[in-house]
Amino acid sequence: MKIRARVSMSADGYVTTPSGWPALTADPAFVSGESHGIREFLEGCEAAVMGRTTFEPALTNNRWPWPNLDVFVLGSHRPAGTPDHVVTDSDPARLLERIRAANRGGDVHLVGGARTIQTFHALGALDTLELVIVPLLFGGGTRLTPALDPSAGLTFQRERALPGGSVEIVYSCKGSRPPLPGAPASQR
Ligand SMILES: NC(=O)c1ccc[n+]([C@@H]2O[C@H](COP(=O)([O-])OP(=O)(O)OC[C@H]3O[C@@H](n4cnc5c(N)ncnc54)[C@H](OP(=O)(O)O)[C@@H]3O)[C@@H](O)[C@H]2O)c1
Repeated sequence: MKIRARVSMSADGYVTTPSGWPALTADPAFVSGESHGIREFLEGCEAAVMGRTTFEPALTNNRWPWPNLDVFVLGSHRPAGTPDHVVTDSDPARLLERIRAANRGGDVHLVGGARTIQTFHALGALDTLELVIVPLLFGGGTRLTPALDPSAGLTFQRERALPGGSVEIVYSCKGSRPPLPGAPASQR
């Protein structure tokens, strides 16, 4: 199993619109569950994991966003209305163990947001970071940095153009676990 974070981002570096929605949703080319290479991406995935902030809007969606995936949520409480099959946990390492215990060999889509990506990276559990850059400028919103910064040590793997003007860039994160706070420079 690989844990693959896939995040959309504006051309000026924001992962959310100024009003807090994922960058992808502002793109005229966006079709929920269909566009921006998500179908191909999900073919190899059997589970999705995300932070509570990213998860909660799904509870009032007309359409359940992860119909064919096991769903895991990191958060201090189980939001009201969470379907029974969704696993929630407040401890990142324990949630990771539960993901691994349930895994049948498929990959895990780390949906976001930035804080949860940072948490999984700090655990050394993040295999890839896959950015989808949409061809828009937002001028505001939330950035992936500083949750991930230059010390994340990403290694470029591949890129491809997507229909509608977006570009996908894939980085490997393995072997790039961020240094522990206070570690001497020789260990960084
Ligand atoms: N562009 C994209 O592709 C994309 C994808 C996903 C999300 N987003 C956007 O990202 C924003 C949300 O991102 P976010 O970073 O603010 O939130 P998030 O990662 O979705 O969720 C944060 C929550 O997860 C839990 N959590 C995360 N790390 C933890 C840790 N180390 N220990 C314990 N609990 C932890 C906490 O829940 P508790 O508060 O319950 O303790 C925390 O408040 C939204 O605006 C969403 O639209 C964008």
